[in-house]
Amino acid sequence: MSGLAIVTGGARGIGAAIAAALLADGEIDEVAAFDLDIAGAQAPAGVTLHQCDVTNVEQVRDVVASLGRHATVLVNNAGGGKHRPERTDNKPGDPFGPVDLFRESVDLNLTSAHIVTSVVGPNMASGSAICNTASIAGLMPNAMMAYGAAKAGLIHWTKCMALSLAPRGIRVNAVAPGFIYTRLWEQTLPRKYFDQMVGVAVPMSSEQTPEQIADSVAFLCSARAAQITGQVLAIDGGSLLGQVR
Ligand SMILES: NC(=O)c1ccc[n+]([C@@H]2O[C@H](COP(=O)([O-])OP(=O)(O)OC[C@H]3O[C@@H](n4cnc5c(N)ncnc54)[C@H](O)[C@@H]3O)[C@@H](O)[C@H]2O)c1
Repeated sequence: MSGLAIVTGGARGIGAAIAAALLADGEIDEVAAFDLDIAGAQAPAGVTLHQCDVTNVEQVRDVVASLGRHATVLVNNAGGGKHRPERTDNKPGDPFGPVDLFRESVDLNLTSAHIVTSVVGPNMASGSAICNTASIAGLMPNAMMAYGAAKAGLIHWTKCMALSLAPRGIRVNAVAPGFIYTRLWEQTLPRKYFDQMVGVAVPMSSEQTPEQIADSVAFLCSARAAQITGQVLAIDGGSLLGQVR
C-alpha cells in the first residue's frame, strides 16, 4: 500500500519525527508537512513542506487543494503555544489569564484539528487513519489552564470522531506525550530546569524523544492497528501514574 500523509506542525520536533516514521513504516510514500514556520526547516526525501497556519480555514483549503491527491493518513500534531515574552499580562499558571490568549490556545490545540479534518476527512477512503497529538496535560490537571483544557477537549473530540467515522472505515486515535525538549520548551525553560522537572515528574526518570512518540503514531496509523480506534496512548515514562519519590 502507498499513500499520502498530512502531518501538521511537521517542520520540526515531534511532527518531523512523525513524518520520518510514517515513511519508514512503508505504508506511506509521501508526507505533506503543514507548518506555520518552515524557514530553515529541512525536508528529507519524501517530505514536502507547506507554509500553512492550521487555525486558518482558507489557508488549509488552499494547501490541501494544491496537493493533487487525497490523504490516507492525517496527523493533527501542530500545537503548543506562541512564545509571547512581550505580553506582561501573561503569567505562567495564572488561572485568571487574558481571554484572548486562552482563545488562541484553544484555537491552536483543539479547533485546528477540526479545521484540518473537516477539509481533509471527507475525501479519506475506508482504511484511512487519523492521529491527534494530545498531551498528558489533557489527562491530568495542571497549571496550564488553556493548554490543558484544549488538549482534554482534543482527547474527547478524538473519541467522538472515532465513533462518527467508524462506519466509513476511518480510525481516529490520539497520543499523549509527556516531556520532550523541543522548541516548545526551549523557548520557555532552560535545559537544566527542564531536566529537574523531568527528574521529579517522570517515574522512568528520563524525557521522551520525538522518535518514541513518532513510533506510536506510525503504529496507530498503520494496518497493524486496524482494530484500534478511539484510544489515547500516553507515552510519558509513567508520569500519569504519579510520583515515586
Ligand atoms: N514537547 C513536549 O514536551 C510535548 C508534550 C506533550 C505534547 N506535545 C505536543 O506535541 C505537538 C508537537 O510539539 P513539539 O514538541 O514538536 O513542538 P515544536 O514547537 O518543536 O513543534 C511544533 C510545530 O508546530 C508548528 N505550528 C505552531 N503553530 C502552528 C500553526 N498555527 N499552524 C501550523 N503549524 C504550527 C510550529 O511552527 C512547529 O514547527 C504539539 O501539539 C504539542 O502540544 C509536546
